[in-house]
Amino acid sequence: MHQDVAEIRPAARLRGELRLPGDKSVSHRALILAALASGSSRITGAGDGADVRSTAGIVRALGAVVERIEGDGHGVMYQVTSPGADGLTAPAGTLDCGNSGTSLRLMAGALAGLALTTTLDGDDSLRRRPVARIIGPLRAMGASLHARDGDTLPPLVVTGRTPLDAIDYATPVPSAQVKSAILLAGTRATGRTTVRESVATRDHTERMLRARGVDVATQADGEGGATVSVSGGQTVLAIDERVPGDASAAAFWLVAAAIHPDAELTLAGVGVNPTRRAVLDMLSRMGADIDERSLTGPDDGVGEPLADLTVRSSSLHGIDLSPRDVAAAIDEIPILCLAAALAAGPTTIRGAGELRHKESDRIAGIVAGLVALGARVDVDGDDLTIHGDARLTGTTTDSLDDHRLAMTFAIAGLVASGRTTVARPGSAAISYPGFFDDLERVRA
Ligand code: S3P
Repeated sequence: MHQDVAEIRPAARLRGELRLPGDKSVSHRALILAALASGSSRITGAGDGADVRSTAGIVRALGAVVERIEGDGHGVMYQVTSPGADGLTAPAGTLDCGNSGTSLRLMAGALAGLALTTTLDGDDSLRRRPVARIIGPLRAMGASLHARDGDTLPPLVVTGRTPLDAIDYATPVPSAQVKSAILLAGTRATGRTTVRESVATRDHTERMLRARGVDVATQADGEGGATVSVSGGQTVLAIDERVPGDASAAAFWLVAAAIHPDAELTLAGVGVNPTRRAVLDMLSRMGADIDERSLTGPDDGVGEPLADLTVRSSSLHGIDLSPRDVAAAIDEIPILCLAAALAAGPTTIRGAGELRHKESDRIAGIVAGLVALGARVDVDGDDLTIHGDARLTGTTTDSLDDHRLAMTFAIAGLVASGRTTVARPGSAAISYPGFFDDLERVRA
């Protein structure tokens, strides 16, 4: 896919203010919900990475009119005019999810409740992403789904049904994608659909359904888990919405400034939803100097809270991350591993197995890159120990065509001595097309 190489030299200092791309998770959902709503929805500040474009392409292929208006390089505006869920049509060809697991899993949930047959497919990496986790519950609701290799891998053929049957489902693996697929299908079911999570995952789908007039109930269990339920037959309304800055993209700069000896960066308008901010709290636990200035009033449970963040050079120390922590910061673990390598003392990360099922095997990728750079890392099954106190020396690293690894190794290059190269850095554009421009800007 992306064959080039980026070369990163150490930065003398890091300064500046950055505006992050629009949140990828929120952007996908905004497009999908706009397709299910009859009428016109305007989405401002959407992420412009390849993944969000994949979802926009799918929504268009299903018969909605999707206008994409260029923004300032950090976001685009989408105007989506849809005939509504019952007016969508199946295209002749496949629905191309590209590299995007979120497009695949969430669309499968949305399509399960429509009387259409469609095929979701994507690139080589997507064809290695597990789909049995959504096939099980969506079949139990009455949709028919089939996939390659004994119904485990894409392409995924979905024949939906209206209405579906409501289910009460406990997710075996904490996954916002699985929860969201079931909730989207649940809006098209007869009766009340319930999803039980032992670790509450990101709740954008719930907030965004509520903002569109759908009553969704969330009950925390007091131990970090939650039960979410939705009644079928509610209409999803078309609304206008602004997408917050992506907290997962912000994580790269939080770590960059915290590990660099002469740094101060401000990140403007970052989404700090309680189910997405774990990386901020973990870095604070490690000793990172982060100032947070809230831009929103008390959280009303519907909108997405925003903050400006300022982060400065910090003395980090290692911490212990539980399987719950891993689930809460699933996309930020690679960049947290870099912070851990440079922190004083060891960091342990337990129960990180889900990282093997992302755009690449992120455990293999991060360990290979950090060890090549001079860190000491032990892997024991799904547990990692990063020994800390590393002095990184520039070397050749490989993103494995995975955006989060490409950006992690590029940030490592800002503090490693000598020259660091990142093979296949173009994958950063999956979630953060302006990443390397921003990297040049902050080192100036
Ligand atoms: C996402 C959920 C996470 C995350 C992904 C985006 C979402 O996946 O890794 O980048 O938008 O719901 P899982 O829910 O499968 O862990």
